[in-house]
Amino acid sequence: MLIQDIILKKRNGHPLSTEEIDFFVKGYTAGVIPDYQASALLMAVWFAQMNERETADLTRAIADSGEIVDLSTIDGVKIDKHSTGGVADTTTLITAPLAAACGGRVAKISGRGLGHTGGTIDKLESIPGLDPMLAMDDFIRVVSACGLAIISQSPNLVPADKLLYGLRDVTGTVDNVSLISSSIMSKKLAAGADVIVLDVKCGNGAFMRSVDQARTLAAMMASIGRQANKPTSVLITDMSQPLGQAVGNALEVEEAIQVLRGEVTGDLKRVALALAAEMLVAAGLSEGIDRAEARLEAALNNGDGLQRLQRMIELLGGDPRVCDDSALLPRAAETVMLKADRAGYLIDIDSVGIGQAAQLLGAGRATKDDTIDPAVGLEVKVRLGDRIEAGMPVAELHVNRRDHLEAAVEKVRGSLTVDDQIPRAPELIYARIRSREE
Ligand code: URA
Ligand code: CA
Repeated sequence: MLIQDIILKKRNGHPLSTEEIDFFVKGYTAGVIPDYQASALLMAVWFAQMNERETADLTRAIADSGEIVDLSTIDGVKIDKHSTGGVADTTTLITAPLAAACGGRVAKISGRGLGHTGGTIDKLESIPGLDPMLAMDDFIRVVSACGLAIISQSPNLVPADKLLYGLRDVTGTVDNVSLISSSIMSKKLAAGADVIVLDVKCGNGAFMRSVDQARTLAAMMASIGRQANKPTSVLITDMSQPLGQAVGNALEVEEAIQVLRGEVTGDLKRVALALAAEMLVAAGLSEGIDRAEARLEAALNNGDGLQRLQRMIELLGGDPRVCDDSALLPRAAETVMLKADRAGYLIDIDSVGIGQAAQLLGAGRATKDDTIDPAVGLEVKVRLGDRIEAGMPVAELHVNRRDHLEAAVEKVRGSLTVDDQIPRAPELIYARIRSREE
């Protein structure tokens, strides 16, 4: 087999065979196929597309490039949950403990944040003492003990994805449905869970700007799940504004805890419950979404969900008292309140801008090697469609270093648009797509 023949075949619009896809992924990972040929093939895929079978083959080949986690010693159906990335989206810290409280076994390998979106691992690391870098047998021990574990990705998982993503990033080949879905799903297949629940974000703060694009991606990932024999459910949810109020690591942990304590409701809670319900149904633990949501509400109200999170924090070495007293989380030296300069309605929030403001304050990374400050970030106090009065508080910045404060304030101001007409509020959950129909 020759890589130049494979490039030509795809360039001319033909589907590649399973063997050809394997040959490419193995050869590229081994360093036998050079970047220039891999780039040419990725660009050919970008133009000529891959069908569902090819995409599933590509996913499997990428997953098989490294270690495949074996969770078979954990009793019950193991569930994985993943979001394509949003702003103020701390659903995992709510969804996983609630699903665990209802009998789910949530085994999640998570990443760090880059750019305007946060990563669950960074959020967890803001908890004093907590170390998410667990060996596989400890991961399994924690899931068995408390029903959930969220740990950091080991370097042995999907090495081909890291290489391919790095190349896509610099060759204009990130935004292709087959390449995105195989990248995401390869990590899910390697992580070893039995069922997969995905949250595809849609809107100005997300990869997928339109519901149609999000649907296409969701359908492809469900198809990969079907072909790999892993039931996969996808919710398409709104990211045309930050999901919760808090953007920043310790701030987001605090907000998740407040939701689990029943102190905070709203869109973050609604999406978290919808995802957890999907997890229970996909795992066969509840019949139907309504029943699942009722069980999850009960687990929230009686404190079981919070207890699960608390236990996991303890088993990962963190201070479990943060669940009772958020003052034990890192706090910024000062807060700065931003006020509206005119009256009207909030007609637009630029979620990317809000994420970038938090990043400027030190909550996020511009490059992979940046260090982050767990205490800083901001709280957005208003939502799309809100009536705004001049002088009303709209955002609170949590600040340690003042060097980028001015720029962050400008970013937040530029991200909130107030005008006279009453806007239409966006839907929160656009669609539900499943790899198998009940
Ligand atoms: N997230 C991933 O993990 N991979 C992509 O290609 C895009 C988003
Ligand atoms: Ca607060």
